Amino acid sequence: MQVELKSPCKVNFILNILGKRPDGFHELETVMHPVPIHDVLTFGRGGSGIQLTCDLPGLPTDSGNLVYRAAAKFLEEARIAEGVRIHLEKRIPVAAGLGGGSGNAAATLLGLNQVFGGALDESILRRVAAGLGSDVPFFLQNAPAIATGRGENVRSLPPFPTLAGVYILLIHPGFGVSTPWAYKNLALFPEALNGKRGRAQRLVERLDISIAEARPDFYNSLEAPAFEKFPLLEIFRDFLRENGASIAMMSGSGSTTFALVEGRGKAERLEEMFRSKFGASCWMRSVLIQSPR
Ligand code: C5P
Repeated sequence: MQVELKSPCKVNFILNILGKRPDGFHELETVMHPVPIHDVLTFGRGGSGIQLTCDLPGLPTDSGNLVYRAAAKFLEEARIAEGVRIHLEKRIPVAAGLGGGSGNAAATLLGLNQVFGGALDESILRRVAAGLGSDVPFFLQNAPAIATGRGENVRSLPPFPTLAGVYILLIHPGFGVSTPWAYKNLALFPEALNGKRGRAQRLVERLDISIAEARPDFYNSLEAPAFEKFPLLEIFRDFLRENGASIAMMSGSGSTTFALVEGRGKAERLEEMFRSKFGASCWMRSVLIQSPR
């Protein structure tokens, strides 16, 4: 039996960091939204150990890959001695703030659980996911969500009616930002490090009314360190804001900038303008964030 799963990415509408914890992680509140741009994973039983292949040269296929670590954890928790074969087709840029690797890890847990007839129940999957990475539990579900703690406490939200028919434009500059680096350098920006709790919930409430109403709450604490090291990212964001985006900001720890654009024509024009201004070296994708009603 072979199982094929699409592994989507995400953006953060708000990533509000509340402070550093004694365990070294940062307490935060975030609203994450799935984006229908996918990697594809296929899973099968057989052989011995974990045989991971990937179409992207340069990506590790051993324990340096979160897919491998997720598979190892799954087999250990489920006490399965049999081998597995996994193939990963990479479409989402890496170290991009889009949660590509975290999504792959969650898809691996879900895919292997299908292949092995539901060996692990949901609560165990959630615990294993949280152990693999702060963003992994979000990808066990496929809906917008508010997340707290270090990001692992996930509460699914109903779709935002205000996002029906809205396009999202993703722009990756061709270089990545390391997540540990971004968090470490947040220490230099006390205001960004010590956000006030409650903004994420306020964003959710206001986004139920309109994008304009919620605009002040779209915010990312990690823009502070990222923009200082990579001023180009701030230039990208401001260009998008000045040329038709309803919202433009960095996602996660970067380096992807995203824009929410109301209407297909506007989205196409913005993409074209961005391309002619900044050239073709960026990876760019534009999709409907949510189908029209
Ligand atoms: O949880 P994850 O493995 O994705 O985190 C990667 C790194 O990002 C952590 O090692 C830590 O340096 C930083 N991080 C953090 N606080 C969080 C999430 C991540 O400091 N809430």
